[in-house]
Amino acid sequence: MTQNTIGNILEVRNLTKKFGNFVAVDQVTFDIQKGEIFGFLGPNGAGKSTTIRMLTTLLRPTSGKATLLNYDIVNQSDKVRKHIGLVAEKIILYDRLTARENLEFFGNLFHLPQTDIKERTRKWIARLDMENWVNAQVGTFSTGMKQRINIARALLTEPDILFLDEPTLGLDPQTTHLIRQFIRELNEQGVTILLTTHDMLEAEELSNRIAIIDHGKIVAQDTAENLKKIVSEKDHPTLEDVFLQITGTQIRDTGNERMTPTHGHRFGFRKTSRVR
Ligand SMILES: Nc1ncnc2c1ncn2[C@@H]1O[C@H](COP(=O)(O)OP(=O)(O)OP(=O)(O)O)[C@@H](O)[C@H]1O
Ligand SMILES: [Mg+2]
Repeated sequence: MTQNTIGNILEVRNLTKKFGNFVAVDQVTFDIQKGEIFGFLGPNGAGKSTTIRMLTTLLRPTSGKATLLNYDIVNQSDKVRKHIGLVAEKIILYDRLTARENLEFFGNLFHLPQTDIKERTRKWIARLDMENWVNAQVGTFSTGMKQRINIARALLTEPDILFLDEPTLGLDPQTTHLIRQFIRELNEQGVTILLTTHDMLEAEELSNRIAIIDHGKIVAQDTAENLKKIVSEKDHPTLEDVFLQITGTQIRDTGNERMTPTHGHRFGFRKTSRVR
């Protein structure tokens, strides 16, 4: 395995993504050290998922650069893909297939040897406490069960770094607890994690370091402990206090305000439309 001299698994430099005139990700720069859990936080529409999609080779950056284990995410995307796992915002599973069939399908899609597919399917299903459901159709599962299989799917390649885009969104406290515990264990076993979440307690509990992105730009980056020092008017500030101080309290439902106003929109704003 290629290793960086300063222990960074991921190095992101001035990474930028424009959709037309709209700058979704604006000169983003950060490093993730091997073995850490890196919390990537920001309001709705800040650019978290777009950044993740570039880092996982699904979306081509407009400019800037990122390397994963020294492999360039654009020019060496095949190499990069061998080392990453992605749990995206949307669950990617086939409802008509059973849990096992889903994992075998994706294992084949990843060109894994049959013995690895069988062994890893068994392992991750057990680790995510889904053994009783392995032969049931995913379409019959609760959201929490689907997400557990979805995480198993992302781990089939045994990645060095796992990108988790809001992995506990909409899950009950029990599943959330199981997934958080699982993330911790995975990390203890050496998997580096990039985690996005809107749950500030979750971010603080799990992350070694946190970056906050707002309007496409990184606006803060440090440990939760150090970030809290910037809140002066409270004795025991929470990460939420930090987040609101840095990003403000304005609701982000006006959409592409970074875009040059277009004709027909008198105030230059409109509802965010998610063109994927
Ligand atoms: N394919 C696209 N075309 C045009 N605009 C896009 C596209 N994908 C994302 N955007 C816009 O880029 C901005 C950043 O979106 P992104 O999904 O990265 O935000 P996010 O930080 O993940 O937000 P959330 O917390 O809501 O998931 C949003 O304004 C979004 O509407
Ligand atoms: Mg997102």
